[in-house]
Amino acid sequence: MLRLDNKVVLITGLGQTTDEGWGIGAAIACNLAKQGAIIFGGNRSLTSAQRTKSRIESAGGICDVQETNVTDSASVKALVDACMQRHGRIDILVNNVGKSEPGCPATLAEDVWDSQVDLNLKSVYLTCHHVLPIMEKQVTGSIVNVSSIAGLRYIGKPQVAYSATKAAIMQFTKATAVIYAGKNVRLNTVVPGLIYTPYTREMAKRYAPGGDEEEYMRKRDGQVPIGRMGNAWDVANAVLFLVADESRYITGQELVVDGGITSSTGRV
Ligand SMILES: NC(=O)c1ccc[n+]([C@@H]2O[C@H](COP(=O)([O-])OP(=O)(O)OC[C@H]3O[C@@H](n4cnc5c(N)ncnc54)[C@H](OP(=O)(O)O)[C@@H]3O)[C@@H](O)[C@H]2O)c1
Repeated sequence: MLRLDNKVVLITGLGQTTDEGWGIGAAIACNLAKQGAIIFGGNRSLTSAQRTKSRIESAGGICDVQETNVTDSASVKALVDACMQRHGRIDILVNNVGKSEPGCPATLAEDVWDSQVDLNLKSVYLTCHHVLPIMEKQVTGSIVNVSSIAGLRYIGKPQVAYSATKAAIMQFTKATAVIYAGKNVRLNTVVPGLIYTPYTREMAKRYAPGGDEEEYMRKRDGQVPIGRMGNAWDVANAVLFLVADESRYITGQELVVDGGITSSTGRV
């Protein structure tokens, strides 16, 4: 079940910033490698990408990484070209890069708005722009884009650029999925809720009232009907399902991984 033997995966944002815990991109890359996939990853910092590469290789997997800026077309093209040169095909594309900046329209600076659109949304267009013609020629391919429940609901803090771009990813995916459905190329979105990652730990350090990080984490756990935040593997398992042949009849869909948050009004 869910084997990916010799499938070539291009993934963005697979870096692991610390040796502690798991970021979502790193967990996705390792999970797909465990199922036999060959990983080719682009990441802003080569050092954090190499940390993920080492984790994959020490588990017996195959992974190459390249410094990449997903907001820059030439850099994305160089990543795609390098993957094609090395492996001659791209079976799976995972767009994982994304980040939230706080603010509402009145408080968000224009340059922050633009950088959010570039990082969260244009990046998805750029990889698809360079990879879809390859998948069309192969007559096979599967793409998963990583959104957020902030693209479906207001989740308690103003981050309108993040919310708007994450919502746009879902419609970008749906529309493109229909266009490519007859070409045997599938596109779906994974929509994580509150996920515990090294980044969440950093946020707790920055935002916990009175520096009480454990209380901050307890509060986040308490917001989830299942009673706890998810982890990077919960998201990685959803991605695995959507890129595997077992989901071959699913395209243009969102798979929400949120422990029930978006199914609840938050009131009991
Ligand atoms: N964490 C959550 O609770 C949560 C919830 C919902 C959705 N998400 C979504 O899940 C995805 C992953 O989030 P995460 O928090 O777990 O992050 P992550 O996967 O741990 O890290 C993001 C990666 O993206 C890389 N990156 C940043 N800017 C880049 C650029 N311009 N070009 C290439 N690579 C770049 C970072 O590189 P460096 O190593 O250089 O920093 C890092 O390796 C994001 O799309 C996020 O919006 C996360």
